[in-house]
Amino acid sequence: LANNLALTPPMGWNDWNAYGCNVSETLVKQTADKIVSSGLAAAGYQYVNIDDCWMQHSRDSSGNLQPDYGKFPDGISGTAAYVHAKGLKLGIYEDAGTSTCAGYPGSLGHEAQDARSFAAWGVDYLKYDNCYNNGSSTTQQYIARYSAMRDALAATGRPIVYSICEWGVNAPWTWAAPVGNLWRTTGDIQNNYNSMLSIFHQNVGLAAYAGPGQWNDPDMLEVGNGMSATEDRAHFSLWAEMAAPLLAGNNLVNASATTLSILGNKAVIAVDQDSAGKQGRLVSSAGGLDVLAKPLANGDVAVVLFNEGASTATISTTAAAIGKSGATAYTLTDLWANTTSTTGGAISSSVPGHGVVMYRVSGGTTSDPGGGTTTTTIRGV
Ligand code: DGJ
Repeated sequence: LANNLALTPPMGWNDWNAYGCNVSETLVKQTADKIVSSGLAAAGYQYVNIDDCWMQHSRDSSGNLQPDYGKFPDGISGTAAYVHAKGLKLGIYEDAGTSTCAGYPGSLGHEAQDARSFAAWGVDYLKYDNCYNNGSSTTQQYIARYSAMRDALAATGRPIVYSICEWGVNAPWTWAAPVGNLWRTTGDIQNNYNSMLSIFHQNVGLAAYAGPGQWNDPDMLEVGNGMSATEDRAHFSLWAEMAAPLLAGNNLVNASATTLSILGNKAVIAVDQDSAGKQGRLVSSAGGLDVLAKPLANGDVAVVLFNEGASTATISTTAAAIGKSGATAYTLTDLWANTTSTTGGAISSSVPGHGVVMYRVSGGTTSDPGGGTTTTTIRGV
């Protein structure tokens, strides 16, 4: 969406994966505090996003949405003021149907009024869900429901990142670039390796549709929610390589040092946030051994060697395969080990089961490994 927002993938936190409906002002404030004190804010985490269940079950007599004041004693506006004072931004959740998934009032038919409430409260980001959508099924019906809120947000004059959450059911990558800043490409992620792996497979082929202001969204992170550290590093690396939004979905207040160090890896974050805005592509995949390449703005290429299987394996590629040429030596920076080495062209490493090795490769010149042509985006269509 050409609203000059989300020129790199949004970064922040959302309560849903760890807390479900147990959202509250206290949780949001404590998490905002931790985002700052942990250094995650300085690393780029910005949006503190409230998911479903923040409302009362009915609108007021004027038809306005009402926060649940038991959960949010200072309302959304008071919560937003606290988050803003921390230098962060506040996100909220609604639904392009008659009810949210958890049964609170939806925005269908109330788009302008609800967008005005969000803007008045100081909201900076809207995640817009797809439950109870009156049986809508055609692409035109989806475009109409999601465009209505886009137009309502624009009419407020407040910059609000617009996140389309229709779970990939109507191929949003084919129509949502002029509608939202990001669109979910899959069903909900779960906190286990097979769910993460399945979502990776569904999202990785959609690189042609991603670019500044328009991102494929393979759902929020499960880092720190139960996978092993090796799996969490793989998950975080793959999402960064795919230029996905990096929305932490764990309990940040009590997060372990390991979890915070994974979420806070600035070299990996820089790959995600690269200004060229290219989603990495699979350059080879055989026997569960994957090589991904993401061309970066300064001519480097970010490479992920991903071992889908359970046993340690060697994964090999070449400078040529990832789009590099013209040098006698290339520099490999290992973004998790923080070591560098040089190579004449072979790129190869032992990779633990369910794990990754991630390199930034520099030297020579770069062509896009997505077929030798410039990545096609549909921005502005
Ligand atoms: C479905 C979405 O996909 C989830 O991320 C979450 O927002 C829930 N709805 C909330 O009900």
